[in-house]
Amino acid sequence: MSIYQFTNPNSVSLHIILKTKLMIQLHDKQFVPFISAQEIEFAIAKMVAQVEADFADETPVFVGVLNGAFMVVSDFMKKYKRPCEVSFIKMASYEGTSSTNEVKQLIGINQDLTGRSVVIIEDIVDTGNTLVELKELFKKQNVKHFKIATLFFKPEAYAKDIKIDYVGIRIPNKFIVGFGLDYDGLGRNLPEVYKLKE
Ligand code: IMP
Ligand code: MG
Repeated sequence: MSIYQFTNPNSVSLHIILKTKLMIQLHDKQFVPFISAQEIEFAIAKMVAQVEADFADETPVFVGVLNGAFMVVSDFMKKYKRPCEVSFIKMASYEGTSSTNEVKQLIGINQDLTGRSVVIIEDIVDTGNTLVELKELFKKQNVKHFKIATLFFKPEAYAKDIKIDYVGIRIPNKFIVGFGLDYDGLGRNLPEVYKLKE
């Protein structure tokens, strides 16, 4: 490809080539770029600043919800400069590109959280079914504070009244992959977010 082609505004063919290159295929579906790695980093930094301010005199326990939240928890923790602990819980509700409405707990918390300040860290809140299940689980733990942080939030799909304390980025009701989120197992390793091509 020549430099002339690259700088020529009439080079429609190059435009098409670039667009096709940016599109990705996972299993049978195609996805297009949606949210950049920089936007994600900025959103996580904003959430960290809010949580740090709210828990200045405490050592919160961050509870990441697996599988999807592993990447956001990692980046969140690296930016968090005060004392903190981390634990994980494993929940699953999705099959393919839609929620099954039935949330299963696959790995539980094996730590005593009595009197502790817990901040749930989610990759994405969609219908809110997972949050309902989590709230129910933590009711029995006698925690001091129970807060919820999520990197992505789909307000149009959210059907519950549980307050979400920290939201990174609000997105329309689209299926997304990347930065920990998957389509049937694939796409979690992408450093930026893609949405299903319409
Ligand atoms: P909820 O229980 O419907 O709020 O869904 C929460 C879980 O569903 C998330 O933690 C994800 O694992 C999964 N999920 C929801 N929306 C998406 C999406 O757009 N892409 C990939 N996974 C999603
Ligand atoms: Mg999740």
